[in-house]
Amino acid sequence: MDARAILVQLRDGQTPSADALRWFAQGLANGAVSDAQVGAFAMAVVQRGLSEAGRVALTLAMRDSGHVLAWKSGGRPIVDKHSTGGIGDCTSLLLAPALAACGAGVPMISGRGLGHTGGTLDKLESIPSFRTGLSEVALRAQLDQIGCAIVSASGEIAPADRRLYAVRDVTGTVESIDLITASILSKKLAAGLPALVLDVKVGSGAFMKTLGDARALARALVDTANGAGCKTSALITDMSQPLADAAGNALEVMVVMETLTGSNVNTRLWDATCALGGEALRLAGLAPDAANGAGQIREALEDGSAAEVFGQMVAAQGGPLDFVDRWADRLPASTVIRAITADAAGYVTAIDGHALGLAVVAMGGGRQREGDRINPAVGLSALAPIGTDLARGELICVVHAATEAAADRAEAAVRSAYRLGEKPPKIVPKLILERVA
Ligand code: URA
Repeated sequence: MDARAILVQLRDGQTPSADALRWFAQGLANGAVSDAQVGAFAMAVVQRGLSEAGRVALTLAMRDSGHVLAWKSGGRPIVDKHSTGGIGDCTSLLLAPALAACGAGVPMISGRGLGHTGGTLDKLESIPSFRTGLSEVALRAQLDQIGCAIVSASGEIAPADRRLYAVRDVTGTVESIDLITASILSKKLAAGLPALVLDVKVGSGAFMKTLGDARALARALVDTANGAGCKTSALITDMSQPLADAAGNALEVMVVMETLTGSNVNTRLWDATCALGGEALRLAGLAPDAANGAGQIREALEDGSAAEVFGQMVAAQGGPLDFVDRWADRLPASTVIRAITADAAGYVTAIDGHALGLAVVAMGGGRQREGDRINPAVGLSALAPIGTDLARGELICVVHAATEAAADRAEAAVRSAYRLGEKPPKIVPKLILERVA
């Protein structure tokens, strides 16, 4: 096989054979294809697309680029959730421990920031000493003891995605139904999941900006996963504004801790967690239906059992033993903190989530180039949601930056990302839009 021939086929809008895609996925994993070829591959797929058969073939090839886990029956029912990515989407941090508290086993193999969106691993690594790189043995032991682990795809699991993901992050090649499907499902199928719930985001802060595109992505994900033997359904959820009211790694962990401990519950985050968790418990056979499952998740959040499991997970993965009680002292803080207030009165009618995400990346909260170090403390907090009636001088959000110059740039980005109008918005978007099964 020859990488150049595969790239020429893709460039010309033809789908390479399953064997050719398998060879390319192996080459991603073992270095036989160069970085330039990886970048060209991603751009060609974004521009020309793969056929449905090509998408399935690439997904399975990337799954098989490494080790595929298997779970023995008789233990906790295994289930997981994955989001297609958004702004202030820290649901996984609440959901993994809540599912574990309800009796599920959750081997959550997560990603880093991608394009303008944040990544679960980067968020968790804002917790001092937290380790996301666990061996398979350690992952299994943690699942037995605690019920959940949130980890990176090790060199053993879907290594092809690890390389392609890092290249897509910095080459403007994320927005592709084929690449998103192959990326998410290669990891999830390699984790040997029998059940999976997907959160397909739609709106200005998502990769899919229209409901039609989100439906197509949800359909591709659900059909590919079910076809590969993993019981899967998807919720299409709103990303026309940040999910939590913060965007940035440590800042989102703070929102999670406030919600988990009940000190300041973020309603949209709470509702998304219950809806996705209800669906996950149903798929895992731990609830008769999604409504019952959502009730179980709510209880685990309310009675503190999810918080307890979260604390155990942080300790098991190298973080502070007292994190649930002392998170405010343990998380890093920025040196420059600036309130951004409304110049004139108005209602928040729209938010450009993509621009907010890029503002966080530009402050150092994401990567501009592969391998860049992240500044976990930077980002935006207290983001006013759509529909807020702001008086002149009232808070739009707070910028957390490393320097005054970075705060200036972030302030300009926030001001142009927020649209204020004289009248309230006609529609305040619903959080859960559709279910695809
Ligand atoms: N999450 C992933 O793991 N991969 C994508 O491509 C998008 C979201």
